[in-house]
Amino acid sequence: MEQVLFRHNRPGRCVTFAEYRAEGGFAALEKALSGMSPNDVQQTVIDSNLRGRGGAGFPTGKKWSFVPRDLPGPRYLICNCDEMEPGTYKDRVLLEANPYSLIEGMVLAAYAIGVAHAFIFIRRGYEEAAANCRRAIAEATAAGLLGKNILGSGFSLGIDVHQSAGRYICGEETALMNALEGRRANPRSKPPFPAVKGLWGRPTVVNNVETLANIPAIVANGAGWFKGLARIPGAAGTKLFCVSGQVRHTACFELPLGTTLGEIIDGPCGGMLPGRTFKACIPGGASTPYLTREHWGLPLDFDTVARAGSRLGTGGIVVFGQETCMVAATLNMIEFYARESCGWCTPCREGLPYVRDILARLEAGTGTEEHITLLREHVHYLNNAFCALAPGAMGPVEGLLRLFEDEIREHIVRKRCPLGGRQ
Ligand SMILES: Cc1cc2nc3c(=O)[nH]c(=O)nc-3n(C[C@H](O)[C@H](O)[C@H](O)COP(=O)(O)O)c2cc1C
Ligand code: SF4
Repeated sequence: MEQVLFRHNRPGRCVTFAEYRAEGGFAALEKALSGMSPNDVQQTVIDSNLRGRGGAGFPTGKKWSFVPRDLPGPRYLICNCDEMEPGTYKDRVLLEANPYSLIEGMVLAAYAIGVAHAFIFIRRGYEEAAANCRRAIAEATAAGLLGKNILGSGFSLGIDVHQSAGRYICGEETALMNALEGRRANPRSKPPFPAVKGLWGRPTVVNNVETLANIPAIVANGAGWFKGLARIPGAAGTKLFCVSGQVRHTACFELPLGTTLGEIIDGPCGGMLPGRTFKACIPGGASTPYLTREHWGLPLDFDTVARAGSRLGTGGIVVFGQETCMVAATLNMIEFYARESCGWCTPCREGLPYVRDILARLEAGTGTEEHITLLREHVHYLNNAFCALAPGAMGPVEGLLRLFEDEIREHIVRKRCPLGGRQ
């Protein structure tokens, strides 16, 4: 199975700059700067069907094309490494193993969009990943692959690493820009979208770590090659799936898009823990609705998972066994979101703690039928909040109501958790 993002990985340590170079690292940058126009690079990324790996799956080349070409003045590129979505740790694993693909991808992206200054916005706590990025920036600059007049092409780029103060909302791209500007990290209204009016009011592209780290291989090998990596038509490339929960091996695996859920669990995860049977999972971080046993053969790709009523999201898979109480699992996630609501808009600030309290009552065996109705209403209300945090928070609640209504009702009828409460 071809590895793109993990191709340069070494067991137990980060690849070195010399090793990355010796294995063809920065060859894509040399190729682009010596023979491709910025438009050529952008078109290659459009043709590759690369979709954003930060959660929403938006087509990357299309996003770049929204940046006004002829507007004078600065424009910015931001790499989003906030990664606070529960269940998600792929960007950390990637940067601890290899920061160079990201740096090379950022230079290529900046060249395509016409950016002279870029930022890596990285979560506090990701100290090793941040140190790797700083070291890679220094090494690439010393080698003439970053900084002024890169490889004598006349194109220049500086990259700064910014460590976040640490709130989940800082990963939302407009809140991130406020944080980077030194303001309170509230989301901004959209439109205008960042590609038109972003950081300091200038056109800005925000992309995820994994998205940008794919760019060198796409430029080096071409759009057709990238599309051919996926297992199903319409999908393109590989995906990092970071798995946790009740499987034998919890780790981050690079697999072709379109690999089925069952193949991941029975394959690299080594199956369920002894004595456990698969009940459900979240497929892409805590804001994605559950998949169940009926989805065992589902090819994991953005469109297929959406058609199954969930989202591929970040590829952060959390696996639950039969003895897991799904009310309790959902309550765990809602507790996180209620705490991380930025408080800017009323539906989310007041609604998420209310939903948390309802779930806590149901779990404790003091809930009523009316609470099921209230949960349903809140799935609807919270879709109209100011940013995507609140609808995302209600993803598992919506899944709970759709797939495990019987289990909720059992809590009400028996006046206790039928599975013995939170694990
Ligand atoms: C509450 C919230 C948190 C987010 N956190 C992250 C994050 O940690 N990393 C990330 O790449 N995208 C995150 N996103 C999505 C970003 O807003 C943005 O869509 C993404 O960085 C774009 O990159 P992509 O197009 O490469 O996927 C978050 C969105 C929301 C609503
Ligand atoms: S939905 Fe929540 S996180 Fe988003 S702006 Fe409103 S209060 Fe803040």
